[in-house]
Amino acid sequence: MLQAAWRAWEHAYVPYSGFRVGAALRTQDGTIVAGCNVENASYSVTQCAERTALCAAVSRGLRPGGLEALVVVTEGGDLTPPCGACRQALAEFADSLPVLLANRSTRALFELRDLLPRAFTGRNLGLAEAGALPENGLNP
Ligand code: THU
Repeated sequence: MLQAAWRAWEHAYVPYSGFRVGAALRTQDGTIVAGCNVENASYSVTQCAERTALCAAVSRGLRPGGLEALVVVTEGGDLTPPCGACRQALAEFADSLPVLLANRSTRALFELRDLLPRAFTGRNLGLAEAGALPENGLNP
């Protein structure tokens, strides 16, 4: 997963920040899907590496409950945790998830549920009561 994340990191499109991020997800069937950040002149359109990888995995069939782990890599001093929007996007697909943050010299392991406690989910929309949570949906 680290190798895949670093390979994607090399492809980061970061003409504005110069801050490369690589991410790799492993899904239940053992597939590893990677992504990089993709910036835009309209800054808010920028896509984080984690959501690039997540969207690629969904495009390959990922559904809620199907994620096993996430790795996020950056160079430089501080490890880069997923931003708030990425935590929320990941919480749609994983109740909790091991999240490994790495740079060239350091690693640290977290759980998504600790990074985003009390995530907003389909349960908050009343979908559980209606029996209408996504198949394999979280929050049983
Ligand atoms: N970025 C990510 O790719 N993932 C994160 O979790 C934090 C931020 C990117 C977005 C932007 O291209 C650059 O880092 C600086 O914010």
